[in-house]
This record gives sequence, structure tokens and C-alpha cells, in this order.
Amino acid sequence: MKEQLEAIQAEALERIYQTEDMKELQDIKVAYLGKKGSLTGVLRGMGKLSKEERPAVGEIANRVREAITVSLDEKTEKLEQAELEQQLQAETIDVTLPGRPVKVGGSHLLTNIVEEIEDLFIGMGYEIREGPEVETDFYNFEALNLPKNHPARDMQDTFYITNELLMRTHTSPVQARTMREFKGEKPVKMICPGKVYRRDTDDATHSHQFTQIEGLYVDKNVRMSDLKGTLDAFAKKMFGEDREIRLRPSFFPFTEPSVEMDISCKVCNGEGCNVCKGTGWIEILGGGMVHPRVLEMGGYDPEEYSGFAFGMGPERIAMLKYGVNDIRQFYTNDIRFLKQYHHA
Ligand code: PHE
Repeated sequence: MKEQLEAIQAEALERIYQTEDMKELQDIKVAYLGKKGSLTGVLRGMGKLSKEERPAVGEIANRVREAITVSLDEKTEKLEQAELEQQLQAETIDVTLPGRPVKVGGSHLLTNIVEEIEDLFIGMGYEIREGPEVETDFYNFEALNLPKNHPARDMQDTFYITNELLMRTHTSPVQARTMREFKGEKPVKMICPGKVYRRDTDDATHSHQFTQIEGLYVDKNVRMSDLKGTLDAFAKKMFGEDREIRLRPSFFPFTEPSVEMDISCKVCNGEGCNVCKGTGWIEILGGGMVHPRVLEMGGYDPEEYSGFAFGMGPERIAMLKYGVNDIRQFYTNDIRFLKQYHHA
């Protein structure tokens, strides 16, 4: 029996030594120490031994069990360690690898221009207000002294949705809305940037959707000279201190008198070139003194209040400022064009 036990130990230790597999190790454990294992089988047979033999064989049996158990534990630990190392190796990150550069976007040229103009007017005490792009006929036209069938409606070819609903053709309705909201009780000093829509055929200088920024200042004693001073400050900050402005008489249904503002051409300094078509001047925006009817419809008493308004197209301003020669560049999203104007 002693030889039998020793043979079991030798065989078990050899198998444990040979295996490199956790599952197999488990099987070996069952094969020797399990309920039906060979060592267990031998121990069961101890009952047949004589009283004298039993302690000595028992001692050997315990030693064999101990040896197999220790060997199994050691091998288990060794295999676990190897597995962990393999996993660590597989998951190693090479921190010295050069990274893949991430493409960083930037704000659109038009956004930059609109924000620049906003900042400028905020600096002069204006607040920014917004309104709906789907507008009522009332706010887009009637409240601005353009009753139905007024011929000046043709100046702004309109996308109608229903008889009374349309895509706003300018941002002036935001001004009408603001006056009504303030109920003629306090001064209005606002600019309204936003998208506008007109039934134009797209080409280098026309777009069926573009951007406007309009301004409105209504208070007691607002005069034409205030308009001129404001626009002069705007033009100089936007295009350079050496720019001159001039106001030409014009017509808008919502202002009286109405003007258009030109700035002296930066390219030729007023000499005349192909950018200013030989005139030395470039048209920038329209404006005028708010028509008494518009004040009245906005809830302001024209005897007590007066005001000025102006409107401009940021695309046009960006085109002049940066020499962009096609308005479609703003909307076709050619990244090579847009990238030139990303701020750092
Ligand atoms: N709303 C006018 C337009 O779109 C611009 C403008 C605004 C003119 C305010 C005068 C005063 O064309």
C-alpha cells in the first residue's frame, strides 16, 4: 500500500508539473483528491489494514495528500500569474506613439461678422432682440407702413405661406414687435440680427436667404444727426478710422426722410476703381427717421417720440471687408473658404 501511495504521488506530481492549463489542473485535482479520486480510493481501503499498520500508512497517506495539495496550489498560482502577465502584455499602451491630430472647427465668417457688429452696438447701449422667421403679414408689412397692395411691397419679393403668413423679408418686424411690447412707455434701443428670405434667383450677389441686422432707436428728441453720428462711428470701427461716410436721399416706406449710406472706397481711397465702379463710394446700408405712422402703430406718440432706424446685410459687409466676391460662398460650406476666417 505504501508503494501504491508513493506511485500515486509521483504520478500526480508529474501530471501537475506537465500541465500548463488551468482546466486540466482542476481535472487533476478531482482525479486524485476528489470523492472518486485515486488517493481517496486508497484511503478508503485503509479499513482493511491491521491496527499496527494503520498509523504508518495513515501518515504516508497524509503526506501524499499534503504534497499533492501544495503542488496543486503552487501550480495554480503560477498559472494565474502567467495569465495576468499575458493580459497585461496584450493591453499595453504605447504612450510614445504619435497621436492622430483632431480637426478643430471654428465659427463661420458670417457668425464672426454678426458678433462683431453686435459687440459694437452693445458698446453703444443697444440691446439684441430676436423674432420669428415665419412672420405675419401684419408685422412684416402693415405695421411698417406697407398696407396691402402698396406698390413698395414689390421691393421685397416674398415667400408666402398663406395669405397672412410669410417668411420674413427683413428683420424690421422685430422692431415693430418690440415697440408694441414696450407699449410706448419707454425708449427703444435695439438691434435685431437674423435670417431673412426673398424670392430671388441665387447668383454672385443675390441669395434667397441671407442675413440682416437692423437697428432702432426711439426716444424723445432723436434727430437725424444722431443717426449720422451713430453710423459714422459704426463705419469707422468696422472699416477703419480713415473711412468717410456720406448719406444719400433714398426711399423706404417705414422711414421719412430715408437715406442710404456709402463709405469711401478702401481700395482706391475715393479715387475711383472697379470695386467702387469708379465712384469712390460703396453703398453699405439703408436707414432713416422712423415714419410717424410706424411710431403710431408701434404705440408711440409721434408728437412726443421720434426715432431712427437702419438696416444692413452682414454678407455684404463681410464681402467688402474681406474681398469675398460671391455671396454663395457663405452657404456652400467649402471648408477651404471657411477655414481662412477661423479665429485662432
Ligand atoms: N428693412 C429694410 C430692408 O430690408 C432696411 C431698412 C431698415 C431701411 C431700417 C431703413 C430702415 O431693406
